[in-house]
Parts: sequence; structure tokens; C-alpha cells
Amino acid sequence: MNLEQVDILFDREEIMARVKELGREITNDYQGKNLLVVGILKGAFVFMADLVREIDLPLELDFMDVSSYGVSTVSSGEVRIIKDLDYSILEKDVLIIEDIVDTGLTLHYIKEILQKRGPRSIKICCLLDKPSRRRAAIAPEYIGFTIPDQFIVGYGLDYAEQYRHYPAVCVLKPSVYEK
Ligand code: IMP
Ligand code: MG
Repeated sequence: MNLEQVDILFDREEIMARVKELGREITNDYQGKNLLVVGILKGAFVFMADLVREIDLPLELDFMDVSSYGVSTVSSGEVRIIKDLDYSILEKDVLIIEDIVDTGLTLHYIKEILQKRGPRSIKICCLLDKPSRRRAAIAPEYIGFTIPDQFIVGYGLDYAEQYRHYPAVCVLKPSVYEK
């Protein structure tokens, strides 16, 4: 990790402790259900990989990729499906895994699309929540950490496709993108 560009917000240990708690909660809540875990690419891939290994239940996985931001740090409000789910979600208890909920526009759109496909339920689990910037009525059922309005990278999150592999959740120093 290049510490001239980022400050560590949550390290690997803090993240894993919280992920284990979320896994236990989800394991309790989804007993006897038809759990389908849907990861939103690419940001959710690291969080999802850790989280599903803490869920002690039968489950299926699928992925969806949508575009929201381009390379800017500000939401355009425009969301487009780049990769749809491979399988039907009819009668499934869908748990959407997202890296971060910022304006909520992305998840609002995804939820609306998936709702029309006849799932038994849809809930949202995000690693990070930035409620101060919300523009759509989205309230995730499971939240790793609630954070103030800072730009985050690492543990799956990117800035211009960089930093996703950093093991910690980091704040990107404004000097990196304010040029
Ligand atoms: P929303 O539609 O504004 O809620 O944005 C959701 C998406 O924007 C997330 O899935 C991220 O890909 C991206 N995003 C929002 N905030 C950040 C951030 O602080 N760091 C990196 N990506 C972010
Ligand atoms: Mg992104």
C-alpha cells in the first residue's frame, strides 16, 4: 500500500471481525430460506469472497455488473447493466452484496429491475454506507461500517480501477484526484 496516497481507515483485522459478525447474522436470518447471494462487480468481489465463507448455510452465487461512475468520484446518476445475472431469481431470497452505498442510485435501479423478476425477497448487504450523500431511498439491511463523506479505496473499491487489491479499507488522499 502506498501510504503517500492513502490513509488506512479499517485494517484487515477490523474488517474480518465485522465480516464474521455479519456472516453470523445472515446465517441466523436465512435459516430455511432459498439464499442467492448476488455480488455487484467489480467492487464487491473481495467483501463477497470473505463474507460468503462466514455464512454457514446452503447458498448460490451470481454476479451483476453495472456502470455508475466512470473515472470520476462524483455520481453521474446514470446506471447501465454491463453484465446481467446468469440465472433466474424466481422464488429466491436474494441478498445483494455491494461495496459501498453512496447516493443509493445504483442500488435503487438494480433493486427495481430485480424486483420485477419474482424473487421471494430482496435485501442489501453493503460493506460501507455513506448516508450523508443519499439521493435515493435505499436502506441496506446489513451494513459493515457507516462512514462520513470520504472517498474510499481498497478491499475491492477503486479510483480509476486502481487500489482494489489493497487489503485495508483506505481513504484516498484528495491530493491524488484534485489536480
Ligand atoms: P451510488 O450509486 O452513488 O450509491 O454509488 C455506488 C457505487 O459508486 C459503488 O458501488 C462504488 O462503485 C462507487 N462509489 C461510491 N463511493 C465510492 C467511494 O468512496 N470509493 C469508491 N467507489 C465509490
Ligand atoms: Mg467503482
